[in-house]
Amino acid sequence: MRVSHQIDGISLNVLSDDLPLQEVGRPGSILDIALGNGIRLNHSCGGTGACTTCHVLVIEGLESCNRPEKIERERLQEVYGRQANSRLACQCVPKKSVKVEIP
Ligand code: FES
Repeated sequence: MRVSHQIDGISLNVLSDDLPLQEVGRPGSILDIALGNGIRLNHSCGGTGACTTCHVLVIEGLESCNRPEKIERERLQEVYGRQANSRLACQCVPKKSVKVEIP
């Protein structure tokens, strides 16, 4: 796996199941992978899907991610500046490479 962090976003290349996970949020979620690789993302509720502080925009690879469940869809309705590619990093689990921007 290769994880890189840039000023304007985070690129996560998920290549195997052997991820250094932080065990925050859904296993293998963008938040989980980021924290496990030393990339800081806000996560006020501890990754339970109860806040919106982990809101990210999935710029590339959205099709490889799980579909948002009801709790995530409801929380995203509360996000100012929500876009079609908005996801909660703690709930979004990519199966392969994704590029993420923190709004
Ligand atoms: S950390 Fe609170 S919803 Fe993701």
